[in-house]
Amino acid sequence: MCGIVGFTGTGEAAPVLLDGLKKLEYRGYDSAGIAVMNDSGINVSKVTGRIAGLCEKTDNGAKTPGTSGIGHTRWATHGAPTEENAHPHLSNDGKFAIVHNGIIENFSSLREELKSRGYVFESETDTEVIVHLIEMYYKGNVREALVKTTNRLRGSYALGVICTDEPGKIFAVRESSPLILGVGVGDNYFASDVTALVAYTRNAVYMEDGEYAELTNDTVKVYDCTGQELEKEVSRITWDVQAAEKGGYEHFMLKEIMEQPAALKATIEPRVRDGKIVFDELKDLPDVLKNIRKIVITACGSAYYAGCAGKYALESLGRIPVETELASELRYNNPLIDEHTLLIVISQSGETADTIAAMKESKSRGAHVLAIVNVVGSTIAKLADHTIYTWAGPEIAVATTKGYTTQLSVLYMLSIWFAQTLGTKDVDTGYYVNLLKSLPRLIQQSIDMNPSVSGLARKYHSNRSLFFIGRNTDYAVALEGALKMKEISYLHAESYAAGELKHGTIALIEEHQPVIAVCCNERLIEKTLSNIIEVKARGAKVLALTISGNKKIVPVADDLLFIPPVDELFSAAVEIVPLQLLAYYVAKENGCDIDKPKNLAKSVTVE
Ligand code: G6P
Repeated sequence: MCGIVGFTGTGEAAPVLLDGLKKLEYRGYDSAGIAVMNDSGINVSKVTGRIAGLCEKTDNGAKTPGTSGIGHTRWATHGAPTEENAHPHLSNDGKFAIVHNGIIENFSSLREELKSRGYVFESETDTEVIVHLIEMYYKGNVREALVKTTNRLRGSYALGVICTDEPGKIFAVRESSPLILGVGVGDNYFASDVTALVAYTRNAVYMEDGEYAELTNDTVKVYDCTGQELEKEVSRITWDVQAAEKGGYEHFMLKEIMEQPAALKATIEPRVRDGKIVFDELKDLPDVLKNIRKIVITACGSAYYAGCAGKYALESLGRIPVETELASELRYNNPLIDEHTLLIVISQSGETADTIAAMKESKSRGAHVLAIVNVVGSTIAKLADHTIYTWAGPEIAVATTKGYTTQLSVLYMLSIWFAQTLGTKDVDTGYYVNLLKSLPRLIQQSIDMNPSVSGLARKYHSNRSLFFIGRNTDYAVALEGALKMKEISYLHAESYAAGELKHGTIALIEEHQPVIAVCCNERLIEKTLSNIIEVKARGAKVLALTISGNKKIVPVADDLLFIPPVDELFSAAVEIVPLQLLAYYVAKENGCDIDKPKNLAKSVTVE
C-alpha cells in the first residue's frame, strides 16, 4: 500500500531510489516518482504505471542528478492513478517535496482551509495537504514545521521530506505506517520495508509512532515530538539480498511456493526441543491462560483462512472454544470479548489496517493479544502482548504462499503447546510433534507429486468460473485455494462447504462447470465423494485434490492432484500447495501479472 524510500549520501541518489522502489513495488504499482535535490533545487520526475517507466524516463536516474532525494510507488486511494496524483508532491513555493504512505482522514477540511489561505492544489490526493501545511508552518526549522503539521493530521502516515534550505538532508516521520532507517557508511536511507535497504546496509533502526528522523550522509538522528533526541537501537537485518530476489525463478510467487519446505523448517525447528514445543516468546502466557475461556482468531485475507484451518487443531488439541472473525467485521461488531478472551491476531505484514483496528478494539475490552507475524518490528508485532514470528523470510509476491503455510505451522505448534500447557486429556503430544516435524518433507512431496499441474492449468484456464468444495479442514483449504485463484488469475472462484451445495449452489452446476473438490480428509472422503457424484450427475467437470492411494476418487474424478497421506489436523499446510501451483499456472496461461495482480497490494494499510 504505497512504498517510500529516501537516500542521502556521497554518490548519486536517483539510482538508489529507483532500485529501492523496485523492491517496494509489491506495495503498490499504479504510479511512481522521485524527487532529487541538487544545487539548483528539487527535480521531480513521475510516471503512471510501473517503476520500469520511471527508469526509462529518467535514463536510470541520469537525468535527475543530486546526492539526496525521496521516492514513492503508489497504490491509489484518493484520486486516480495519474501523473498529477503521483508522489512526490511539491509545496507552492517549491521549497519542499514529500512522499507519503498512509491515509489522511481529515484531508478534506484541511484542503478547504488551505485553499482559503491561498494554497493551490495540483492533485486530488490527501497527501498534498501535508506539503502545504509544512510550507505554512515553516519558519526556518523543518522539524518544527513537521511537528506542527503532524499535530493537524488524523490518520496514518510515513512521510519522507526534503527541503531546499537543507541540502543533503532527508526528513522522515512515522505514525501508524511502517518506516525503517538504514544506517550505512557515508550513506543513509529510509524505506517502508527492509527489502529496499538490504542491498546497501544490514543496519536498521525501526522507527516508532510519533518519531521524527533527520538524516545526513553521516548522521542519523531520531527525535520525539518535543524535540528530545532519542537513543535508538540499531538492529541487524538477518537475511541477505538473495532472499529478496527471484533466484532464477520466473516469478516471486513460484519461488516462494518452492521455498515452503525451508520456510516451515525455519518456523518449526527452533521451537521443538526434547520432543516438546517450546515458545520462549510465551513465557508468562501459561499464567494468563488460567483465566482464558475462549480464543478469538482475527485477520484478513489468507491470514484469516489460516485461522479458519488452524481452529480445528486448536480446538481438538487445546479443547478451548475458538471463534474466527474477519478483522474488518470484528471491529464493528460490539464483540463479546473481555479479559477472559485470548485474541490471536494473524498477519504476514503486521501492518494491515483492519487487523490493527480489530486488535485495538479487543485490547480496549480487556483481551490478551497474541500475534502471529512475519515482518519483524511491524506495528502488530509491537502492539501485541506476545508475538510469535513466522520467520518465513521476505515474501514479495502479493499473493501469499509461504506466509500462509508458516502461519498454519505456528497455529499447529500452538495447538500442541496448549495441550502440553493445559494437560489436555488423551492427547498424545509426542505424536503431533512428530507430525509437525514431518510437514516440510510432506510439503516437498506435495510439490513433487504434481508435475502435471501446469498441464491441468492449460485445461482449466479458459473457464470463467470455478467452484471449490470441501468439508472441515478441506473446506478451509478450499477457501484459500479459491482466493489464490481469484487474486492472481482473475477467474471467478467460489468456495463452498461440500455439504452445503445442495442448499442452493447446486442450481449453478451445469454441463462442463469445473469443480475443484478438496477431498483429503480420510474421515470424510466418502461424504465428499457423494457431493462429487452429485455435481458430476449435473455435468460438472471435477478436478479432485486427494491423498495418494485413494482409490475411491480416482474413477470418479476427471482430473487429479495428489498429496501424501497426512493427519487431517495438520493437513491444510500440505493440501494448499497443489492449489497454489494450480492458481500460479492458470494465471500464467492467462498472461496475468502474477506477482503484482491488478487492484491489489500486499500490505493493505487502509480500512
Ligand atoms: C492483502 C493481501 C493478501 C493478504 C491480506 C492480509 O489483501 O493481498 O494476500 O492475505 O492482505 O495481509 P496480512 O499482511 O495482514 O497477512
